[in-house]
Amino acid sequence: MPEQRKFRAIKGTRDILPPDSALWDWFEKTARSVMESYNFGEIRTPIFEETELFARSIGVETDVVNKEMYTFADHGHWGLELIRNQIGYGRMPHGEEAVRLFRMQAQTLVDRWRELTSAGEMPETPENSQAIKRIDVGLIGVSSPIPPAGPGVSALNASALSIMHSARSLKFGDVVTLRPEATASVVRAYIEHGLQMRPGDQKLYYIGPMFRRERPQKGRYRQFYQIGAEVLGTSDAPAIDAELIEMLTVLLERCQIEKYTLLINSIGCPDTPERKGCRPKYVELLRAKLREPEIFSKLGADSQRRVETNPLRVMDSKVPEEQAIIEKLPKISELLCADCREHYEKLKKELTLREVPFTESPRLVRGLDYYMRTTFEITSPILGAQNALCGGGRYDGLVEMLGGPKGIKGIGFALGEDRFIDAIQEAKKIHATRTVDVFIAWMGEQAYPTAVRLAHVLRGEKHTVELPPEEMKFRKALERADKMGARYVLIIGDDEIASDMLSIKRLADGKQEKISEEALVDYFRGAR
Ligand code: HAM
Repeated sequence: MPEQRKFRAIKGTRDILPPDSALWDWFEKTARSVMESYNFGEIRTPIFEETELFARSIGVETDVVNKEMYTFADHGHWGLELIRNQIGYGRMPHGEEAVRLFRMQAQTLVDRWRELTSAGEMPETPENSQAIKRIDVGLIGVSSPIPPAGPGVSALNASALSIMHSARSLKFGDVVTLRPEATASVVRAYIEHGLQMRPGDQKLYYIGPMFRRERPQKGRYRQFYQIGAEVLGTSDAPAIDAELIEMLTVLLERCQIEKYTLLINSIGCPDTPERKGCRPKYVELLRAKLREPEIFSKLGADSQRRVETNPLRVMDSKVPEEQAIIEKLPKISELLCADCREHYEKLKKELTLREVPFTESPRLVRGLDYYMRTTFEITSPILGAQNALCGGGRYDGLVEMLGGPKGIKGIGFALGEDRFIDAIQEAKKIHATRTVDVFIAWMGEQAYPTAVRLAHVLRGEKHTVELPPEEMKFRKALERADKMGARYVLIIGDDEIASDMLSIKRLADGKQEKISEEALVDYFRGAR
């Protein structure tokens, strides 16, 4: 017998169990119905994509891409990968025994690689073939008996180094990533399926898990759930931005979450081949300001690095010591170009028209690189440190950057389902539970076929029915029904079979009555 071991969910992941799952179900249905009322259709994209898709769209300097992605080589040759890692990332071999082992592993790597490529189980890329050739040559250098010292040893070390380096460069399969967000996937799907050919804007929504290797805490998980929506098309009318935000506020209303703040901002536009954007000008100004020694010296290590790589991100730093400095930095709203300013002003008018209250937040730059112009977030004070219920913005250049048609604009948002559920529970207005409508207490072999038949009939009527798989004593059955919170107990025993009449007990008040089988369906229809 193998040793017993108890497994636990991986850190940052969790199980969602009944009765909580009923609220998740309610929320997803509500979100679907709200989004469908705005004419959004569902898109389901894969959970993993090429790593480069995320790196390009989200940006390599973002936290998400830089430190939080679950990335792995997509192949099934883990035994070979292990050997490669031992060779490539192990110690430099010293001494007879270590060299012998090193040689054996390198030879196995070459032989297995040849077997797999000739069987068509591994791609034979020019880079891989070159690396294998170098390992072959290196093997000659580590095959002769070990010299005592001097140039012979240096030659052996050089061969071993070349083998190690070449082993590291071997690629056994594509590098893929569990999606940290879904905008990149939606844009990839939009381009791949030529959705620009369909009439009108494409209004798409998605529901599903995302993966980010963040430090877990309340409201922050490594597998979390998002509901998001994206609008892709040729128009960037501010009415699109406003309608999307309005849709979110309708969802908040349905969930009876009243305590929230909608933050909005415009982060300007990037350079294009046709014209210079206002954001790069702002970024340069910000960088110059942040480089000033008296400011730079007061920044933490992360922000200091970002002064060079992505100064905009310094604006949304949460480090307490940096807040006073950030408050005094120039704001992008002061430097928007005429077009961006007009877009932003119209967005505010559109929101006012829709009676959506908002707060302008010049610091709202968002953590992903694809945004331009409109950015927004909805925060809730009841959530604590992880207070963003959802976030989104415009990303007009992304379709083209990912190889799609020119001139396609996009805007979208994603809400954190985990956090929405917390907020709904905290507001205590919605109580979604699943109840058992009918518990069938059957007693005696004769009653069983009737019990099975009636369970089927009532389930067909969309009632939730619990039918015990084994006979239970009447008292026990009543207790179980009570614990399950069942509304009715349908009693079928010898008496009921003999008299052709069923007994129904209403658990709320204990009232019991007799009823014929024919009247049963109507009885429960009336009791709904
Ligand atoms: P995001 O701001 O990275 O945007 O994520 C959106 C929301 O997902 C956050 O406001 C938060 O509620 C939730 N969230 C993010 N990370 C976690 C986590 N580790 N645990 C729990 N909840 C989390 C995006 O993902 C963009 N794709 C949104 C978008 C769509 N922009 C345009 N279209």
